[in-house]
Amino acid sequence: MAGAEVSKSEVVGREEELAAVRGFLADIERLPAAVFVEGEAGIGKTTLWRAGTAAAEGLGYRVLSTRPAEAEGRISYAAFGV
Ligand SMILES: Nc1ncnc2c1ncn2[C@@H]1O[C@H](COP(=O)(O)OP(=O)(O)O)[C@@H](O)[C@H]1O
Ligand SMILES: [Mg+2]
Repeated sequence: MAGAEVSKSEVVGREEELAAVRGFLADIERLPAAVFVEGEAGIGKTTLWRAGTAAAEGLGYRVLSTRPAEAEGRISYAAFGV
């Protein structure tokens, strides 16, 4: 399933996390579902998230993505309140 490949070109290591994302995307029977990525600033959350959304697009999912602006960062779910 080449489309399910999470890009390795920009992600160093993180095999376990990338495998979790691949599994999440492949297990369509469980959708809707969510992946929760947590960790300290700079640990690589956004890097993993980008690889995941790219993989989802590769699989043909319609990807709607949103991120808060810095000023909205302390407001829970601000990015969803459009
Ligand atoms: N696994 C990784 N492979 C390559 N670069 C990484 C990896 N994890 C983090 N980085 C780099 O480290 C920096 C911080 O990563 P980032 O994903 O923005 O962290 P976070 O979102 O957790 O704050 C970025 O420049 C990113 O490219
Ligand atoms: Mg980030």
